[in-house]
Amino acid sequence: MVKKAIIPAAGYGTRNLPITKVIPKEMMPVCGRPALDYIIEEAVNSGIEQILIIVSRSKNMILDYYDRSMELEFFLEENGKSELLKKLELPNVHIQFVRQTYSKGLGDAILLGKPFVGNEPFAVLLPDEIILPDKKSKPALMQLIDMYNLHNKNILGLKKVPVETLHKYGVVKPERIKGNQFKITDIVEKPEETPPSDLAVIGRYILEPAIFDYLEKLQPGAGGEIQLTDAIKGMVKHQPNYGIKIDGLRFDIAVEQEYIQLINYISSHTE
Ligand code: G1P
Repeated sequence: MVKKAIIPAAGYGTRNLPITKVIPKEMMPVCGRPALDYIIEEAVNSGIEQILIIVSRSKNMILDYYDRSMELEFFLEENGKSELLKKLELPNVHIQFVRQTYSKGLGDAILLGKPFVGNEPFAVLLPDEIILPDKKSKPALMQLIDMYNLHNKNILGLKKVPVETLHKYGVVKPERIKGNQFKITDIVEKPEETPPSDLAVIGRYILEPAIFDYLEKLQPGAGGEIQLTDAIKGMVKHQPNYGIKIDGLRFDIAVEQEYIQLINYISSHTE
């Protein structure tokens, strides 16, 4: 059973500068809620019970948001505004935090979750990418968890992306099992020349705890960073890994146009 999730939120948010100088990318407002809250909602709706958020020193706003504000609650109660208290309800999930003291890449951030994960499979959700279920789809992470329950191996969330953008992603070499499910035979982080396919990893993973053995041995990869993709590449050589093309609407909040589309979509689909 996949009950734990790691959300890495320690990056500088360089794609969203200058606002990310003071507001963490994960706290960018999306219809009155921080972007991160949609990721936490997806995790909770997928059955996750414990979340570890990896933060850095400029991200204290995230800790404050997921804490109670007794002073504000008292103020609302005393001033006849107790109907607003429900807006302050925290998600129904255990959340804990760890700080990454030095930015060394996604793989290094995940490695900080080793004591939290123990010997269980776990999910990773990258908070740049908000994936909303369309009419008939399950939450994105639940689609991966369902596939994990069949194979008990690493599962990667995939999406076909335009060829000219493949160099921004981890790109897999897939073998179709059936429909939208694949066996992964190789993976390359930010391919410079010929990408192995047009299927990119889009920020959702279910990983076996054995990934930590691979992460611990890694040398810096693309961009001089410890890359999660490289640890998966190592694992693919020794055991089957799988991927599933995610159904749903995906928005990369670091791309301004997609951030605006997300806000428009949510505001036109809520009563
Ligand atoms: C990260 C991963 C990459 C993945 C991407 C999805 O890259 O390293 O494999 O495809 O997220 O958004 P980043 O966006 O941090 O450069």
